[in-house]
Amino acid sequence: MRYDFDKIISREGTCCEKYDRRKEIFGREDVIPLWIADMDFEVPAFIREAVMRRAEHPVYGYGFRDEGYQQAIVEWVARRNHWTIQPEWLDFTPGVVAGFSFGIRALSAPGDKVVIQPPVYPPFARMILNNGRTLVNNPLRMDERGHFVVDFEDLDRKLEGAKILLFCNPHNPTGRVFTREELMRIGELCIRHDVCILSDEIHSDLIQKPYHHLHIASLSPELAERTITLIAPSKTFNIAGLSTSVAIVPGKEVRERFRAEMDKLHVDQGNIFGKVALETAYRYGDEWLEQMLDYVGENMDYVVRFLDEKLPSVKSYKSEGTYLMWLDFSSWGMTCEELMRFLVNEAHLGFNEGRLFGEEGKCHMRMNVAAPRSVIRESLERLAAAASRLNL
Ligand SMILES: Cc1ncc(COP(=O)(O)O)c(C=O)c1O
Repeated sequence: MRYDFDKIISREGTCCEKYDRRKEIFGREDVIPLWIADMDFEVPAFIREAVMRRAEHPVYGYGFRDEGYQQAIVEWVARRNHWTIQPEWLDFTPGVVAGFSFGIRALSAPGDKVVIQPPVYPPFARMILNNGRTLVNNPLRMDERGHFVVDFEDLDRKLEGAKILLFCNPHNPTGRVFTREELMRIGELCIRHDVCILSDEIHSDLIQKPYHHLHIASLSPELAERTITLIAPSKTFNIAGLSTSVAIVPGKEVRERFRAEMDKLHVDQGNIFGKVALETAYRYGDEWLEQMLDYVGENMDYVVRFLDEKLPSVKSYKSEGTYLMWLDFSSWGMTCEELMRFLVNEAHLGFNEGRLFGEEGKCHMRMNVAAPRSVIRESLERLAAAASRLNL
């Protein structure tokens, strides 16, 4: 069966952050929202039907996650990314950010150093600081081919005396999917410095051909011991509103510390619809996901081609993973404020502002391309038309 990703779905009036908060976020309603990382595609019918079947039962009392739920996760991880995990390694978290925040609390003490690799998803820095830990930056650098890569010498220095590497793979916003060699080197450094890894792999299902995702914890028993891997069906199947994510914690000591932290907050109840949605998605979602990834890949190709041909002053490249693109506007010579004002008020586009991902993101914008092609086309046309008025 062919799924229809061209279909326009009105999300306005659903208390949806992406559309219904445009005035608050951008100061006007008429921007095309290309920001927050959820998709404008409908959740596949087999997931909606499973949730509706559960919703038809007249009682929504306390539930629990049974063996079938755990098995669906175990099989998904084995099938998609060839990692054999055990049901007893699994923990529920109400979100991936919540998961790494629990991890920070479990594996470090106030004041301890936690390393991140900016430009990176803004809650990384925020959660470290909110939990009273010390933020240490190991910025990614651009290599000669224009790829973002890890600065290993700097990482070696920065991990000295640190407790945690808060790692993002695939990397948001740069779209990198780290290779086995890169992951091995990162892992070796973490082992050498006795640093635990909180690995945010929420985008691990969103991989473009010919890349493959590798869970860093799957690379060796030593890495498994010191890593908390966070995954979720939320980005993959557009069900972030169901607040259901998974922590995979193979190491006994790390698991005990993680659970002790979770127990302080009593947040593992979750919700009955998230349980049903996750299980259904992981059991039956492969074909839908493949088609969605092809569609998003074509959107990325479209963006790159359009900008190369019509607006080469904006640099873009196809992401290896995620449905996010990292656009470089630095040749326009505007300050961050001028650029944002121009994009909102002249092009009527609502991107995520790059500098919020760290200093390194200055003059960049993150563009979410998980939308119907017609929306992407209209966005680029608005951008090109506004730029041409300024001869950019
Ligand atoms: C890298 C990364 N981690 C976590 C999240 C959010 O996860 P959650 O909504 O499950 O907290 C996002 C959402 O954009 C993300 O890109």
